Amino acid sequence: MTASVLLDRAAIENHVRRLGRAIARDHPDGVLLVGVLKGALIFLADLARAIPTVRVDIDFMSISRFAPDSGRVRILQDLGSDIGGRDVVLVEDIVDTGLTLAYLVTQLSARGPRHLATCALLDRPSRRIVPQPVDYVGFELGSEYVLGYGLHVRDLYRNVPYVVAADRDTLVTRPDAYVDDLYRRPDSVREPGGRVNFVPAEEP
Ligand code: IMP
Repeated sequence: MTASVLLDRAAIENHVRRLGRAIARDHPDGVLLVGVLKGALIFLADLARAIPTVRVDIDFMSISRFAPDSGRVRILQDLGSDIGGRDVVLVEDIVDTGLTLAYLVTQLSARGPRHLATCALLDRPSRRIVPQPVDYVGFELGSEYVLGYGLHVRDLYRNVPYVVAADRDTLVTRPDAYVDDLYRRPDSVREPGGRVNFVPAEEP
């Protein structure tokens, strides 16, 4: 199976740079980025470096759905820091139904931050179940299922350095259907539309 590239490295970089500038502008006193593991890890690492003009602290949370499709989640790993009085930006890879983000916003708001904002690399507003706004959005998606740059299915494809659109139905029965395609040449450069330009291997 071949996945088509939705956001190549340059497109991701542009979105991250724009979001970083906006967060820096809105948080002159510094900001605590709270990443939702594991999906937001790679995005957050780049986002933090795109905010070079104010102090950035980093923390993570991990949550788990404990009742599939009910939207109920529980905290697996909590923050290591107290967010009382802090300016916090909650960082997600993708907001789909909005249930995860809404749950986390409720949890974190109750801890008394001075200000709490939300940021997601990808937003799929057409699938919202709860009307959870996202303050900083990289890219708005249609219905396509996406992988790469932290996004996964069964923990596969997180390290693919761009975002691809994959067939959701295929992934249900064959999560590894894109392994050959996406892991074939780690040094290849992919462009929107799925074209692959192979970068010649460097001479030893
Ligand atoms: P929500 O609670 O429905 O908004 O779901 C958010 C979580 O679902 C994200 O943090 C992802 O882990 C996962 N998710 C939603 N859509 C996709 C996708 O297209 N690819 C990979 N993971 C997704």
